[in-house]
Amino acid sequence: MTRTPKPYRSRRIGDRDLSPETLMMGYGYSPHLSEGALKPPLFQTSTFVFGSAEEGKASFELAYGLREKKRDEEMHLIYSRINNPNLEVLEDRLAVWDAAEKALAFASGMAAISTTLMTFLRPGDTFVFSEPVYGGTEFLVHTILPQFGVKGVGFMAEAGADGFREAAKAAAAQAAQSGGKVGVIYVETPANPTNGLVDIALAREISETLKGPGGRPPVIVDNTFLGPIWQQPLKHGADICITSLTKYVGGHSDLIAGAASGDASWIGQVAVFRTILGTMTDPHTAWLLLRSLETLKVRMDAAELGARKVAAYLRDHPRVKSVWYLPFLPKDHPDRALFEKQCLTAGSTFSFEIVGGEKEAFDFLDKLQVIKLAVSLGGTETLASHPAAMTHSDVPPEARLRLGITESLVRLSIGVENPDDLIADIEQALGQ
Ligand SMILES: Cc1ncc(COP(=O)(O)O)c(C=O)c1O
Repeated sequence: MTRTPKPYRSRRIGDRDLSPETLMMGYGYSPHLSEGALKPPLFQTSTFVFGSAEEGKASFELAYGLREKKRDEEMHLIYSRINNPNLEVLEDRLAVWDAAEKALAFASGMAAISTTLMTFLRPGDTFVFSEPVYGGTEFLVHTILPQFGVKGVGFMAEAGADGFREAAKAAAAQAAQSGGKVGVIYVETPANPTNGLVDIALAREISETLKGPGGRPPVIVDNTFLGPIWQQPLKHGADICITSLTKYVGGHSDLIAGAASGDASWIGQVAVFRTILGTMTDPHTAWLLLRSLETLKVRMDAAELGARKVAAYLRDHPRVKSVWYLPFLPKDHPDRALFEKQCLTAGSTFSFEIVGGEKEAFDFLDKLQVIKLAVSLGGTETLASHPAAMTHSDVPPEARLRLGITESLVRLSIGVENPDDLIADIEQALGQ
C-alpha cells in the first residue's frame, strides 16, 4: 500500500529483522490516515471519491496498465474490485508470512486456484499436477478445465521423481500434439487427505526443462495444509504459493477466503485476471483476516503441539490400523528426507485408518462429543471427517483406492483445545 508513511512499512529495527508475528500488529497500516484509529477500520465501501477528474484519469491509467507509474506517484483508491484499504493491508501482511514480494487475497481458496490456473492456461495447453489434490481442485482439473480445451496430466505424490518426470514428458508430448504448451506445474503438498509429499525444488527443476518461447511454466504450490508457518514453498523454488485462508489463517471457521503470493512478475499477471473475474475478497472478510493474523502464530503453535499428542495416542491404539502423520514415516521411507528438507513441522491435519471399514469409521465419528463432525481444517476447534464419503466423494471409487482414500480413513484437524480432552473424546468414541 504505497500511501502509507514509511515507519509502518519498515520490517527492521536497527539491524534486527522483525518477526512476522510482530509485524502483524501494525505493518502496512498508518493510524494517521484513519483518524488515529489503532486498528484498521472497516472500509465497507464499493467505490472511492476522486479529488479531481485528472486524478480519476491517472488512477485508471495505472489500474489498466496503460502507462508506467511515475516516480513517487501514488495509485489512488478506485473501486473495491480493484483496490480497497482492508485488502491492501491484508495483502501486505500475507506477503510477509509467505516471504513474497506480492500477495493477492481472493474470495476463497478455489477462487485463488481457478483464477491463477486461468491466468496461465489457454486452449490446447496441458499442465502437470500431483495427486491426490483437494476434491474441489480435482473437479476443476477433471471436469471444468477440459471444457476449455486444457488437459492435466497427473502423477501420484508417492510416485517420486521418476513419476513426476514421466508426467512432465507426457504433458509436453500432449501439448505438442494439441498445438499448446505445458502452461503450469501444480503441486499440492502435503496432499489432502493423505499427506503425500511432492518435492518443490524438483518441480522447479522440471519447470526449467519445459522452457518455451514464452518462458517456463510457473510452479504453483497449494500450501493450505502447512501454510503459512510450517512450510514456505517460495523458499524451495515455487513461483506461486496458494493458500486457502479459510483454514489456519482465518482460523475460526467463520469465513471463506484464499491467497496467492510470489514475485510481482507472476502475481501481477494474476492480479489482472482477478480484477476482471471479480474473484477478490470483500472488505469485511479482509478485516476479519487482519484480526486473525494477529494470533496466527500462537494458534498454529498450539494446534501443532496438540496434534503431536493426539497422533502419538492414536498410534498405540489397538483399533487404529495406521496413522498418516508425517513424523511417523519410517527412516527409510522416500518421503522422510523430503519431509525434513521441506516442512518445518507436520502441522495439525492428518488422517488415520480405523480397523474395519465405513461402518466402523462412521460409528467412531458419530460417537465423538467434543470433536465436531465437519469438513474443513485449521480452525480453533478440532474437526473430524470421512474423506471417502465427504470431501473426496466425487472421486470414482477405483481412483479413491488408488489414491489411498479408503473407507476406513478418518481425517482430523486438531484445534487449540486441551489435547488431553481430545484424547479422552477419541478414547470413548473408539471404545474397546
Ligand atoms: C488443500 C486445499 N486446497 C484448497 C481448498 C479450497 O479452499 P476454499 O474452501 O477456501 O475454497 C481446500 C479446502 O478444503 C483444501 O483443503
